[in-house]
Amino acid sequence: MITITSKLGQVSAIIGAQWGDEGKGKVTDIIAEEYDVIARACGGANAGHTIVVDGKQYIFHLIPSGALHEGKDIIIGSGMVLHLPTLLEEIKVIRDSGVDVVPRLHISHEAHILFDYHMAMDEVFEQQRAKIKGKGIGTTMRGIGPAYIDKAARTGIRMESLGKNLEEELKDKAQSLSELYGINVDIEKELSQIKEASEVLGETVTDAIELIHDYLKGGKNILVEGAQGTHLDIDHGTYPYVTSSSTTISGALQGLGLPPNALNTTIGIAKAYCTRVGEGEFFTEVEGEVGDRLRERGGEYGATTGRPRRCGWLALRDLRKSAQLNGLTHWNITKLDVLDEEEVIPVAVDEDGGKPVYKELPGWKASTKGFTSFDELPENAQSFIGFIEEQTGVPVGFIGTGPGREEMIIRV
Ligand code: IMP
Repeated sequence: MITITSKLGQVSAIIGAQWGDEGKGKVTDIIAEEYDVIARACGGANAGHTIVVDGKQYIFHLIPSGALHEGKDIIIGSGMVLHLPTLLEEIKVIRDSGVDVVPRLHISHEAHILFDYHMAMDEVFEQQRAKIKGKGIGTTMRGIGPAYIDKAARTGIRMESLGKNLEEELKDKAQSLSELYGINVDIEKELSQIKEASEVLGETVTDAIELIHDYLKGGKNILVEGAQGTHLDIDHGTYPYVTSSSTTISGALQGLGLPPNALNTTIGIAKAYCTRVGEGEFFTEVEGEVGDRLRERGGEYGATTGRPRRCGWLALRDLRKSAQLNGLTHWNITKLDVLDEEEVIPVAVDEDGGKPVYKELPGWKASTKGFTSFDELPENAQSFIGFIEEQTGVPVGFIGTGPGREEMIIRV
């Protein structure tokens, strides 16, 4: 039998190529079957990975999407910021569906804890930005920026501290947050959340670097699950309208302690059109009737916040940059079926003074929903995929044709 891993190699990564929400969860979930280890490297509960199994929808924020597959080892890497009550809740939801992840969960002792006060800080910072600049970043309010501020300022608390008495440390924090921002930290609540987490997760905290290198030596297949998207990267994204972590492959490697030469393939995930949540540049955005149609057909509402996503057309400039930054070896173009009704499909081939230069491709005006074979796709849909390949120099290995696990064309 020809397996996907035999084509993709021992270590493969899945990276968002737009502004997040590209549908990374689904391809991860499909190919996770063939991997021994599924790892998340960066970000926190700002991510919302939606997968649908047997008609039931799951949204994961911290646990990798591949976790529903029994028997897979799961790593939460040092690059992550973890809100522990959210993690416990996710573990519970998965357990309620009959799968226990705790015995195979390994959390880096270097990952940072994201406390409730980080979320309170997020809110204060957004309000301050709105007051000074007239608008905020439009963060997910999950405390991500403030948790990474603490990490960079070397005042964060890491998972290795789970089980230690953090009362004095939290009292100091509470005092400075009260003085600086008027934030009232509920120390008792924070301490009890930590206690509960340490009872459930104590055994899972480990030296994840040693572990991942043991896996490598042992020939285990590792799937790295990126979060957010390349254009939300703190360095290379549309700054300052970005998240606070490195969302590219480099950040994923760093967040797991994986050396670059361990990596075999990187799959870039991009919708057949484009969406963005929050503020910031989006030069192919379309508002009005067309934008609304894409939003409704694509179900474009945030998995984490429920916010309606801004919608627009595919921008090849952005895909080319993602291909460069991440060294993409394959594309997964998702949600092709959302374009089924379009008469013409504008694709931005370039940019001129901040405005898109569109090429209008003919639509296919036929259902592609649930298709699993490329050859059966309407000719214009095949040409659309071929155009992306030609313009970006990266082959399309996966094409999403619906939300279900089985609705995918695989051609690696
Ligand atoms: P933060 O990561 O919550 O600080 O939000 C910063 C920006 O990144 C906002 O525009 C968010 O909407 C966006 N963002 C963060 N995580 C995701 C994600 O997983 N999908 C889509 N957008 C995200």
